[in-house]
Amino acid sequence: MGMYGRDLLSLYEYDSDEIKSIINLALKLKNGVHPPSTLKGKNILALFEKPSTRTRISMEVATESLGGHFIYIDKTTTQLARGETLKDFALVTSRYVDLIAVRAYDHNDLVEISKWAEVPVVNMLTDRFHPLQALADVMTIIERKKGRVTIAFLGDGSANTCHSLMLASSKMGWEFRVGCPKALTPNPEVYKIACKSASNNKGSVLITDDPLEAAKDADVVYTDTWFSMGIKRSEERIKLLLPYQVNSKLLSHARKDVIVMHCLPWYIGEEITSDVAYGPKSVVWDQAENRLHTAKAVLLLLLTPGLKV
Ligand code: CP
Ligand code: NVA
Repeated sequence: MGMYGRDLLSLYEYDSDEIKSIINLALKLKNGVHPPSTLKGKNILALFEKPSTRTRISMEVATESLGGHFIYIDKTTTQLARGETLKDFALVTSRYVDLIAVRAYDHNDLVEISKWAEVPVVNMLTDRFHPLQALADVMTIIERKKGRVTIAFLGDGSANTCHSLMLASSKMGWEFRVGCPKALTPNPEVYKIACKSASNNKGSVLITDDPLEAAKDADVVYTDTWFSMGIKRSEERIKLLLPYQVNSKLLSHARKDVIVMHCLPWYIGEEITSDVAYGPKSVVWDQAENRLHTAKAVLLLLLTPGLKV
């Protein structure tokens, strides 16, 4: 099935070949290949309920540099803030724009918009998933590693980034390990789907509360903030997560050529130490750059009829 006209809400709905097609196009664009189509005449609406640096800017630059028009909307400035329903928002804006991208607290709100929208809907992060981030993550890993990769995600196993990378990794046939406290394990439904997809693609998924078991001989060590947007800061949570901090001691258990990844923004001294964050194994700036190339690829594939990569 082509990707034209489809939603991108999680990564459930995309198979391995489709994910690989997105990454292949992103890699080509990064390497200077002329885009196979443009976004000329296309209007992209980006609705934000939470702050953003990378997602907003990469999506805006991707759209405009391909000839499209990007409309940034802060939810508090719309009638949604005064009670207009998501259904009406989706039905109305579908008459104006070609694609609706949404950053929302509640994943169900995104699903509600997609239910009523008559144009493709793209998830720019919810409490449950961050698929655009996972695509950039996979691209960054493919640029550096060959074959079956072992990824260790350390920290908050219930984070959107962990869920999305777990799904992407399972579709790539990679080994994905989550090292997290028992109280912060991935969502069971997401885990179940990832396990099924991993077994279809010769990958694997492991959840452990032993950070060293997760990190042992890993090719990639990944972490994210311990306080995702919407989660209240507490000393209790810091204490719970401290054993999963990505620091040089933990990294000594991974492979020598391990790469360290983080979606950013990070909280130095919490989930990652400064020496590791800014050290030679860290690939976070390339990872952040790849948000731009994958955003371009996604927009082109969803908005160009019959585009094949
Ligand atoms: N990684 C990421 O999504 O960053 P922003 O919150 O800045 O968009
Ligand atoms: N898990 C983080 C990702 C930020 C890009 C959050 O949801 O805040």
